[in-house]
Amino acid sequence: MRPAAAIFDLDGVLADSAVMHYAAWKRLADDLGIAFDEAANEALKGVDRMGSLRLLLALGNRVASQTEMEAMADAKNAHFVEMVGRATPANLLPGAERLLADARAADLMLAVASASRNAPVLLARLGIADRFDFIADAGAVLHPKPAPDIFLACADALGVEPARCLGFEDAAAGIEAIRAAQMFAVGIGDPQALSRAHLIYPSTAAVDLGMVLARSTIAQH
Ligand code: BG6
Ligand code: MG
Repeated sequence: MRPAAAIFDLDGVLADSAVMHYAAWKRLADDLGIAFDEAANEALKGVDRMGSLRLLLALGNRVASQTEMEAMADAKNAHFVEMVGRATPANLLPGAERLLADARAADLMLAVASASRNAPVLLARLGIADRFDFIADAGAVLHPKPAPDIFLACADALGVEPARCLGFEDAAAGIEAIRAAQMFAVGIGDPQALSRAHLIYPSTAAVDLGMVLARSTIAQH
């Protein structure tokens, strides 16, 4: 069956904000004296704020109370919000606008499935908020990625069967969420980290939507 919708992750797929999340976590990790680098950050990608903090604390073998964890999460978010406040359309990843235009030209409905509660502000600063038929509210779904909830919420809002949705993700947790939703998973980034994707491209600019449409139409996912 031909795809009818494309559902995009935001951080690291449409915007270069994955590096902002990393920079904000790195600053918190440095403050806490926890060794943290880009390789360790791979596990945090796509994971929601408290889930990411738990992973970071586990890396440093730290235990913290709920109140301490809330203060840490607030500190990380303050670093991130400061960066998002300076974001402009220049923070769109190369190829992102073309991919959205190609998807629209292919008669696909468009949605954003971001785990970030800052996604609406970032989309507005990037100037692309009005390009989507639906923007999922990360706060409204019960189970975060890798659960399928946020992708299924998009399919439901668009009125499209999950099997006719394409999901685009740069995070392993996101690819798992797309697969759990029974959608066609397009990975953007490291082939090893995203090995569960149906198709993988090294960057957003490298995505060939014609190929994705052809492959997803014949694939049993
Ligand atoms: C995801 C990012 O999009 O959003 C994660 O990949 C981040 O790194 C998550 O932790 C939650 O973001 P926020 O802005 O709600 O803290
Ligand atoms: Mg992402």
